[in-house]
Amino acid sequence: MKKIILVTSLCLSVFTSDACEYKHIIDRAISPASLKARVDQLFQNQDFVDAFIERKNKMSNAQRRAVAQKYQMQKIARWNYIFRTPLIPGYILKLGPIHWTNSFGGFLVRAKEVTNKNVSRVAYQQLIADVVEKEPLKHVCVVQKYLYEIPGRGDSKDKRLCDDNFIVLVEDIADILLSPEENIEQYKYVTEELLDELRIIARQAYVADFKMPNCVFGKDGKIYLIDTEQTNRAHEADFFLKNSHQMAADTAEGLRLIGRLLKVRDDDYCKAMLRVECASAPYYEMGIEPDDTPTLSAAFIALTDKLRELE
Ligand SMILES: Nc1ncnc2c1ncn2[C@@H]1O[C@H](COP(=O)(O)OP(=O)(O)O)[C@@H](O)[C@H]1O
Ligand SMILES: [Mg+2]
Repeated sequence: MKKIILVTSLCLSVFTSDACEYKHIIDRAISPASLKARVDQLFQNQDFVDAFIERKNKMSNAQRRAVAQKYQMQKIARWNYIFRTPLIPGYILKLGPIHWTNSFGGFLVRAKEVTNKNVSRVAYQQLIADVVEKEPLKHVCVVQKYLYEIPGRGDSKDKRLCDDNFIVLVEDIADILLSPEENIEQYKYVTEELLDELRIIARQAYVADFKMPNCVFGKDGKIYLIDTEQTNRAHEADFFLKNSHQMAADTAEGLRLIGRLLKVRDDDYCKAMLRVECASAPYYEMGIEPDDTPTLSAAFIALTDKLRELE
């Protein structure tokens, strides 16, 4: 009998600690009540949930686009479901990658696997904010990000921080950010002092993805790190400070990409980057399947070739 109690309490404690492991992140990222109320209203629409949250029914692009139109959703990312809607003014909703689903398994993860990719945006935003404050850094900012708990997912015992349970809400700072063209121009004058601050973030917050569209200059001359997602990691075992090899690899990749930011002084490189931006236009549509626009692949290849030449 004692053994049963011991085993049961051991199991419970493992479960409990697992369930609460990221409570500090969740507690810090609770959205304001008025914002939550607006998102609650959107989530009450079953067609929205079916198209963009459940993604159970294999919907056609046309069907998904129709739902997007109904809620005036404007997709603003190439690969991911990231959008604005006038129903939620002042914020951007980040729902995760188009093919990244836990429930039926996209091509990136097996069915039933827990993924933490979308929610990693919040975990790393908090970590970077702490580094910015502690140092303190003068030239780098992050944007306020919140977690919204998807209604009906998980219960009070299982509030795991994973893509099945939460989406990410981000303060929309479009009025502060420079356009892609202006951003590229601004990078021609980037200072070593600013790049050193980015290096501190790569080292202390293990950020890898310092590509130019993710580190955007604001009108105030500061760099806004808008894309704080943990790159290419969906699995719980590698998520947020769990895998030291991965953290080291992310820092190394981050430092490499920070070095590459200086290459913007080459005009042909700038042109190649802008070509990728232009070729991305058809992807800014709800539900469009990736890899069906050869123009984008060609633009990416040209950009990669140019970089190889410069490095
Ligand atoms: N806080 C924000 N304010 C304004 N625009 C944003 C913000 N966050 C992202 N964006 C826009 O959305 C695009 C995609 O966001 P990002 O987080 O980089 O997604 P992804 O992970 O798909 O690269 C960005 O390139 C930028 O144009
Ligand atoms: Mg990005």
